Amino acid sequence: MIAGLHAIRGPLLNPSPTAGVDYFPDGVLVGDDRGRIVAVGAWDEVAARLNLDAAAVPRSRGLILPPLLDAHIHIPQHPIRGRFAENIGADPPGGRLLASLEQNVFPAEGRCEGPAHARHVVADFATDTLANGVIGGAAYMTVHPRATRIALEQLPESWSVGLVLMNGRCPAYLRTNEPSLADDITALAHDFGRRLIVTDRFAVSVDAPLRKQGVALARQHGLRMQTHLDEQRAEKALIEEVLYPEAGSYTGVYARDGLLDCEPILAHCIHVRPEEVDLIAGSASSIAHCPVSNTLLGSGVMPLDTIRSAGIPHALCTDVGASPTTSLFCEMAQFLKVHAAASSSATPEEALRLVTVAPARMLGVGDRLGTFAAGMEWSFIEVACDGPVPATAREAILGGLLGMSEADLDSWRSGDGPAAAAMRRLRDEGLDWGHDLAVLDADVRATAARLEGRVRRVTRAGKVVWPPGSPVA
Ligand code: GUN
Ligand code: FE
Repeated sequence: MIAGLHAIRGPLLNPSPTAGVDYFPDGVLVGDDRGRIVAVGAWDEVAARLNLDAAAVPRSRGLILPPLLDAHIHIPQHPIRGRFAENIGADPPGGRLLASLEQNVFPAEGRCEGPAHARHVVADFATDTLANGVIGGAAYMTVHPRATRIALEQLPESWSVGLVLMNGRCPAYLRTNEPSLADDITALAHDFGRRLIVTDRFAVSVDAPLRKQGVALARQHGLRMQTHLDEQRAEKALIEEVLYPEAGSYTGVYARDGLLDCEPILAHCIHVRPEEVDLIAGSASSIAHCPVSNTLLGSGVMPLDTIRSAGIPHALCTDVGASPTTSLFCEMAQFLKVHAAASSSATPEEALRLVTVAPARMLGVGDRLGTFAAGMEWSFIEVACDGPVPATAREAILGGLLGMSEADLDSWRSGDGPAAAAMRRLRDEGLDWGHDLAVLDADVRATAARLEGRVRRVTRAGKVVWPPGSPVA
């Protein structure tokens, strides 16, 4: 073994930047003393080339894959994850989203005004995401500059965080302090640079003058933006028919006010019309696709093939607290289920790309994270994979990472049974319904419980960062 090299050997998944996933049933990932990747590939080939000694190279604790990234998640909702829509009726006026925000979400966000509570919430968020193999992403904090600063200070630099803008249809205790906004953003941008994301919560809660001020500040400081778009039918109708009838569409509001020029991450994009897809594709936007949230809130199913053929970058994201878990494996499983019947591009390999290499590129860290290549960070996760070593990438992802079988996928594809029928109605009608929602809700929660806790170790640039206190790989 050459001095200064470190290696780990085991079944290894390497998502490709272009398409597909390379898989080595007996693979190895070699790093140097500076925490950079030196080589990746099949053990026989790499070991011979680098003169590796089999006795000196440790075996992995399961499947080796790049660490995961979540480009849309709400930190202050972490304590209420999975309870976002608790005690919300089947069909409240304005839809489940707006009713849930008011009843469950805004009070949880308001509590982060207190710095001790904010610190506690951010610390739990940091531990729980890492335990699920998620090392960074783009998060929303709250309207409070102090809480936003706490999140940016406490989280690793691979997390970007947004100070949320909001000045309407929200409680008085949760409004942006507009007179001090320019100073607040300037101070945070000075200290954290592009890790600060200017965050227009959504057009329901932000009026045009505040949005335009956010856009101007983003431009002034070279920051990007994030927001929600076209999540629920009732929300879209409120925007297009009541609040902004002159803007042409929901997306038209963000185009007109300049938000689409600020490299935004747009969450959901379910009910987009063709002219909205054109506006998004014509800008430097990317889409946060949240299948668990879109299922549990009864929002609908994002038109995956339309977004793909328009060439719009997209990634799978949890949208916690709408999801009960920060596990992106749960999100991958739900991606396969919601698109099984209508899209041939929703493969297990693509699901893995959408939680690794795709978000890395969206987040501007694709040169060091998301895939394994020489010169990138020697960062990886090891995921429990019991039983025989899988033979193919598809088997390793579907069976190994997600604990699903081809027969499971077929049952969602064929449309038999109550769950598949409920999913079809979610896709075709996007309704807020009672019994169907209960069927899908129970399935998602069982999957979340099954897929949490499967990450055995997280290594970041050569250092084991989870579980705490474990020896170096
Ligand atoms: N739209 C505006 N705010 C939110 C939020 O916190 N969660 C979700 N899912 N949608 C939103
Ligand atoms: Fe969200």
